[in-house]
Parts: sequence; C-alpha cells; structure tokens
Amino acid sequence: MTGEPLRKQPASPQLLAQLDALLVQGEPPLTLMANMASLLYWSLPDINWIGFYLLDDDQLYLGPFHGKPACSVLPLGKGVCGTVALNRRLLNVPDVGSFPGHISCDDASQSELVLPLQYGSKFWGVLDVDSPVPERFDKVTQDFFEQAAAMLAPRLGIGPLFSA
Ligand code: SME
Repeated sequence: MTGEPLRKQPASPQLLAQLDALLVQGEPPLTLMANMASLLYWSLPDINWIGFYLLDDDQLYLGPFHGKPACSVLPLGKGVCGTVALNRRLLNVPDVGSFPGHISCDDASQSELVLPLQYGSKFWGVLDVDSPVPERFDKVTQDFFEQAAAMLAPRLGIGPLFSA
C-alpha cells in the first residue's frame, strides 16, 4: 500500500477516507475484508482483535482478521457474534465478562463491538472488534464502525461468498 504510513489515530472521518480509498469497488470480498481488518487494526488504538465471521450452513466461520488466532467456528445464537447473527442487530458489550455465554478467544478482550453485515437483503456475516479496555466503544467509535461496515457492503465484488 502506498501513501501515508500507518499510525494510531482516532476513529475519524480522515480514517474513513483512508478506508474509502482502500476498498476498491468490485474486488473479491475476501480481498476487501482482509485489507479493511488490517487498516483498522493498525490505525485504531486499544484494539486487540478485529475480523470477520462469515455465515455458512448456519454457522459462523472465521474470515479475514488481525490479532491472535481465534475460534474458527461459532454457533448461531451463542456468544456475542452468534447473537448478532441471529438477531441481525449490532451489539456493543462494555464488559464481556457480563455477557451471558460470551465466547473468549483472546483472554485480553474486555469489551467487544459486533456489527451485522448484509449484501442487499442477504445477511452474510459479522464484523467483530475486541478491545483490551473495558467500555472501549463509545458512541463516536460505534458510529465510525457502522459507517465503515456500510462502506464495505456495496463494494463487494464477485467472489466465492456471493457468486451462487
Ligand atoms: N467473543 C466472540 C467470539 C469471537 S472472538 O472474540 C474473536 C463471541 O462471544 O462471539
């Protein structure tokens, strides 16, 4: 990637503009997700894991991510990701220890934000963001991630996830 070196920065319109430039319309979904996870992991402070879980056959499978190796399969309706996948609604969990059934993939995680992802009307996965800091995801940060997720959806090109 050319341009400015990566540096830690707040969740801001400037970072969304960097993401905008990185997400080239029509590239395969896995390509876009991989670069999005990397940019946000290296740019935002206090994030220990960020990545995608992809719906397939009523389970969530680990997709592109940055952070330590994580659970490869998550059941629908369980944990934070599975609950979001079932209800198709964002969850902002300020203290993962207080979330019933939270699935711990990295002991460092203290708070978690999970967003549902849709392609048109088709639900296809979640974006999962973990922080080692409790209550990490304030309103500004949550709005930022909602805009980032909304930016991704219309750019997804033809690929194994969406070609059927
Ligand atoms: N904590 C998640 C599992 C995924 S990891 O955090 C990467 C959950 O409860 O669904």
